[in-house]
Amino acid sequence: MFDSNSFHYTGNTLSCEEVSLQELAGRYGTPLFVTSAKSLTESYLAFEHAFATLPHFTCYSVKANFNLSVIRTLAELGCGCDVNSGGELFRALKAGVKPEKIVFAGVGKKPEEIAYALESGVLMLKAESVSELRAIDRIAGELGRNATVAIRINPNVTAETHPYITTGDSKEKFGIDEAELEEVFELFGTLGNITLKGLDMHIGSQIFDTGFYVEATMKLLDIFNSAKDLGFCIEYLDIGGGFPVTYDPKKQATPIEHFAQKLIPLLAPAGVTVIFEPGRYLAANASVLLTRILYRKRNHTGKEFFVVDAAMTELIRPALYHSHHEILSVTRHDSTIRADVVGPVCESSDFFARHRELDAAEEGELFAVMSAGAYGAVMSSNYNGRLRPAEVLVSGSEAKLVRRRDTYDQLIQNEVF
Ligand SMILES: Cc1ncc(COP(=O)(O)O)c(C=O)c1O
Repeated sequence: MFDSNSFHYTGNTLSCEEVSLQELAGRYGTPLFVTSAKSLTESYLAFEHAFATLPHFTCYSVKANFNLSVIRTLAELGCGCDVNSGGELFRALKAGVKPEKIVFAGVGKKPEEIAYALESGVLMLKAESVSELRAIDRIAGELGRNATVAIRINPNVTAETHPYITTGDSKEKFGIDEAELEEVFELFGTLGNITLKGLDMHIGSQIFDTGFYVEATMKLLDIFNSAKDLGFCIEYLDIGGGFPVTYDPKKQATPIEHFAQKLIPLLAPAGVTVIFEPGRYLAANASVLLTRILYRKRNHTGKEFFVVDAAMTELIRPALYHSHHEILSVTRHDSTIRADVVGPVCESSDFFARHRELDAAEEGELFAVMSAGAYGAVMSSNYNGRLRPAEVLVSGSEAKLVRRRDTYDQLIQNEVF
């Protein structure tokens, strides 16, 4: 049973905080993302509590869920942002995040994105190649500015997670190899418009083993010491995100305190500000994807299907990473049935669960696909002519629409016909 502080049964009906999901589906239709402000807040405070003794600064990785109201909920608690594109920077600024609380990442920043970041006054750009450092220097010079940069190190640590979300291995595109660092440090002597103030890494996502962070952090600290010996004044060590969450109650995530216990003694002696970039940790368990059962069907082999009105176009994680998401019936039932939960899109990978023991819900009833807050709505698409869903933010007994559902007109509004 997946039941949290924020999503729980009241009697036999699943609620978000004090609002029944049944009522929200009636009011706003389905598929619908429902996010709990309380869950966002509790996750942020738990993270801050774990690292309280370390001078640090938490930048929510908005790629996990870039809804303006989600960003604002966290920003109001003091959280900064990690952005990965001009579009994400635009969103963070629109949500009210101060530029000096924003770090700008990305392996392929376009010149106009670099200029936008510099003109906005972000805290740091995190450079991922020698060519990018040259580009930042040139653009900063054209703008008459000095750019504060961090270099993203590729620590060559292969964290155990899904191969599509490991990013700290030298065969991946991310960051600058250790072997290149001498050249990079020398480069700073020749470039007049950039100042190196940070070292950065991000080894991947949903990493359960603290050992990978320890290994990569030790490499980062070695580089930090070399940079100091060369006369660089490094003020920030950015450890990235990747802290895990529980999607499947049978596979409990390593508590954040365990990461803190390992990392604080390593990082504190450096005497710098540590930046963390949690995305999933803050957002994943704050939302559910609410979907209505359109049809139940059974094939000639006896296999059962729930055909629901949400699809891979709203939550692609099962199709992309074979991720597990708990599925709860919004109205509890006494009996169960083993079935697949599938969406209406014309792809066999359009499923939320396979051969899963579920409440024997009826056509017209609702399922909640749990832990859908990170890498859900942000990855939604209009494939198959589908309308990207509405999003609601719940706080206590209040529910607010924070994104309207797409309309048919919006599907064609950018086409020149
Ligand atoms: C540079 C960077 N920082 C932070 C994150 C957030 O990762 P997570 O959501 O696993 O915390 C990502 C995710 O891809 C990333 O690429």
